[in-house]
Amino acid sequence: MSAVHVLNGPNLNLLGKREPGIYGSATLDDIRAQLDERCRAKGVSLVFKQSNFEGDLVTWIQEAGAAGAPVILNAGALTHTSIALYDAIKGAQASVIEVHLSNVHARESFRHHSYISPAARGVIAGFGPLSYLLALEAILQNI
Ligand code: DQA
Repeated sequence: MSAVHVLNGPNLNLLGKREPGIYGSATLDDIRAQLDERCRAKGVSLVFKQSNFEGDLVTWIQEAGAAGAPVILNAGALTHTSIALYDAIKGAQASVIEVHLSNVHARESFRHHSYISPAARGVIAGFGPLSYLLALEAILQNI
């Protein structure tokens, strides 16, 4: 398998400090370390990125799609607003698992709609950092 790409959107750089009652105390680096350990054990490379800019995520999705690399995507609030990310996934034929730390369906109604889900292979939400690890397991099992 080519590398697993883990792409993170706006405000996820603040994890650990950001609304810990909702997002927990783990930082994005903690999540990266957990994924890295599992990838190393499986001999798979990890590409792990975060940006607060929509265009960066569009470009990274296009690159992963072109490389045939599976993507774990937490698009943050762009999940609920971005037709550009939907188009990028479709256009690049990227294989994406949408993840969220929080259970977006148990939160404000504006978080209930996702532009990513209709283009995603699957969706995992509500398990904190484990959401990412569950997505990685699905990829490693070639689901
Ligand atoms: C999030 C949920 C989104 O609604 C929110 O805008 C985020 C984080 C999550 O991981 O729970 O930034 O994607």
